[in-house]
Amino acid sequence: MTSQSIIEQSQRHIAGGVVSLNRKASPHLVFVRAEGSRLFDAEGRSYIDYHAAFAPHLLGHHHPEVTEAVRTALDRGWSLMGSGTTPWEAELSALLCQAVPSLERVQILNTGSEASQLAIRLARAHTGREDVVVTLGGYNGWHDEVGRAVMPSLAEIGPRISAGEYPLLPISAGIPESTQRRIHTVNFNDLESVENVFRTHRIACLMTEPVLQNVGVVLPQPGYLQGLRDLCDRYGVVFVMDEVKTGFRSALGGYQSVAGVRPDLSIFGKAVANGYPLGVLGGRAEIMNLFAHPDARKRVLVAGTYNGHPVNASAAIATLKILGRDGGAIYSEIEKRSVQLQQGLESLFAEKGIPSTITRNASALCLYFMNHAPEDWHDILEFHDFALDARYRRELIDEGVYNFPVACKQSSISAAHTEDDIAQTLEAARRVVGRW
Ligand SMILES: Cc1ncc(COP(=O)(O)O)c(C=O)c1O
Repeated sequence: MTSQSIIEQSQRHIAGGVVSLNRKASPHLVFVRAEGSRLFDAEGRSYIDYHAAFAPHLLGHHHPEVTEAVRTALDRGWSLMGSGTTPWEAELSALLCQAVPSLERVQILNTGSEASQLAIRLARAHTGREDVVVTLGGYNGWHDEVGRAVMPSLAEIGPRISAGEYPLLPISAGIPESTQRRIHTVNFNDLESVENVFRTHRIACLMTEPVLQNVGVVLPQPGYLQGLRDLCDRYGVVFVMDEVKTGFRSALGGYQSVAGVRPDLSIFGKAVANGYPLGVLGGRAEIMNLFAHPDARKRVLVAGTYNGHPVNASAAIATLKILGRDGGAIYSEIEKRSVQLQQGLESLFAEKGIPSTITRNASALCLYFMNHAPEDWHDILEFHDFALDARYRRELIDEGVYNFPVACKQSSISAAHTEDDIAQTLEAARRVVGRW
């Protein structure tokens, strides 16, 4: 089948023509196979992949050991039992708690959004409060409780607000106003605004990505994450670190191990199972144990037919073992390729005199067409050249290099990217920029 016929068939039956509508992008390509660092479209063209399906593929697509673990699960009849505990969830939870010291207890789910929803439910049960603080330019899943727009325009958000909160711009229609009133959006890297909201509202939890990785790569300023920790302690707010994107990609212990900050709860997804659906919620035993509180009125429900599915759990176990092998040696290999890409792009753009800045958190990288590293989404809106970014991405795709064709989406490097892949990427970028 050609790309065109597949698109036409999808458009007849799928509302919006694509499942998960944030995958909709132009050019509308149809990928049919992936291997290592490569994607292949329905016409057989190959692309060096930096999209990584929005970041899960830290080991690259179809990693042989992960695939083998999945095959073993299927061959040995490790079906979804759905009754009692299983050996796979026991092993996976032990690996998770070893990898991330703040995880005293975990629950295993299917997606990051489920983990985020449950973290909020837990925080509410623990504190007896209802409101939630989130960050501008952050994303914590598609559900109502965190449903502010991720990339609102400058016209929508208006002038910078500090100390204070931004008006809620919902990410979706259908979010009840009563829910919207409970969401408080403050700017990233802005402790004053967090304190302001903590002082004036009854906040159950603060949920934030430690590095904003849904608007590229916006790093926390020194002391920001520790400042959040201190404020949460002072105001009795549950600190939920959303490591769905940063977890396992930044380091085996998550970005929290890099920053040296211990959240109360953390959520993970994506790279934990290298492309298989798995979400994790974990943290302080005192809060997590609300899932098994002896008093039914204080007990928090966690349930899910597919939670801890043996196929996905097997993929996660294999992934974590690979990541932890030889003291995490794989991370230094991925770091080398990431530095190679960053430095190559930096010298190319410097040579051409095109104002640009590359920010990077381990294997996550973003090229901004602005002359400084952004501090927050507001800064990006004011200074980044969105049109040039979109053009750059489109023209790179024509050269066989795939970054998601929406401005400010992070590039993800994997263990499967070779020195040669990076060299080819840099040559492609040189051809693109050479035509400008
Ligand atoms: C930081 C962050 N949190 C939560 C989520 C939601 O995860 P999922 O798409 O698995 O529900 C995402 C997804 O992109 C994310 O980037």
